[in-house]
Amino acid sequence: AEKGLKDYYKDYFSIGVAVNVRNTSGGDETELIKKEFNSITPENDMKMVSVHPSEHVWNWENADKIVDFAVKNGIKIRGHNLLWHTQVGAWMFKDSLTGQNVSKEVLLSRLKTHITTVVNRYKGKIYAWDVVNEAIDDKEDVFMRNSLWYQIAGDDFIPAAFTYAHEADPKVELYYNDYNESNPTKRDKIYKLVKSLLDKKIPITGIGLQCHWKVETPSTDDIRAAFAKYASLGVKLQVTELDVTVRRPTKPGETPDTIAAYTPEMSARQTARYKEIFEIFRENKKYLNNVTFWNVADRGSWLDGRNSLAGGAAATQAAPGQGPRPQGAPPAGGPP
Ligand code: G3I
Repeated sequence: AEKGLKDYYKDYFSIGVAVNVRNTSGGDETELIKKEFNSITPENDMKMVSVHPSEHVWNWENADKIVDFAVKNGIKIRGHNLLWHTQVGAWMFKDSLTGQNVSKEVLLSRLKTHITTVVNRYKGKIYAWDVVNEAIDDKEDVFMRNSLWYQIAGDDFIPAAFTYAHEADPKVELYYNDYNESNPTKRDKIYKLVKSLLDKKIPITGIGLQCHWKVETPSTDDIRAAFAKYASLGVKLQVTELDVTVRRPTKPGETPDTIAAYTPEMSARQTARYKEIFEIFRENKKYLNNVTFWNVADRGSWLDGRNSLAGGAAATQAAPGQGPRPQGAPPAGGPP
């Protein structure tokens, strides 16, 4: 078979991509996934609100389809995620009778039920979980994000989540996953949190670096420093959600519709950027075991809905082979 990214990188790390059921149900994107990638992450279908929309309701349909696709095709699966402050049903935090916030004890017991059920269901099929996602605040003088998890359970929900996941599947790899991971302030906080978990002998395998980046930032110095700092903990690292945006609104009043087309100059800058960041990834192969792109193609990228385009032109205008999608990705603008 024709070689894909996964084959070129087989001596370094697995190459992954975020997917939805649509991407894995046949068609050009499905063929692309099979050729280029040996790891997938469900983009939304394993999040709390997707699988556990209310206390006694479980919805496995989409998650199961993605898992079946991966197992059938010999593709590894990263689970995403077991705990986040968003995409979680409001019921999780509320007493159904009074509507008031539940106690810490009740919240942790609901969390345990959730994590145990989900991890158990995919035991032996999912090799790594993002256990806690984005629990740290971005602001300089604030450590933890002031989520309902934090308001109700303080710091304790984090070690609890890792412990429950490990109890459900002692073999599965467990990651703390966050963005702005290369910003020195956030980096030091992530380091401190993970170090405190390791010091307490909490079962954690490593750190997920989301890497939602731009062509210009973060600097390669900051990226190298972040990898070095995390690696100094002796844990595994994964790049979990890589984006490299180049075509974005930069002037007041610009929108995805009025912004300049994706130019050859933008394409060249994006290519150079991929070259420099993959150099850094290769330098870190001792710790880094996976690099996952967030979405298959510009078509369907989460960025296109956020006034901040993924890279190539808006889906219907993008030229084949351009944009942040891996080399060989299908042209944007196919069926929705
Ligand atoms: O499922 C509903 C659908 O029923 C409804 O009709 C539709 C109308 O808006 O919304 C659908 O939900 C959307 C969901 O994606 C599934 O498509 C949500 O509105 C939308 O907010 C959600 O966005 C996801 C986002 O996480 C949620 O914050 C993105 O697709 C997903 O790419 C993004 O991924 C996150 C990672 O999990 C964590 N790191 C950051 C990353 C980017 O934000």
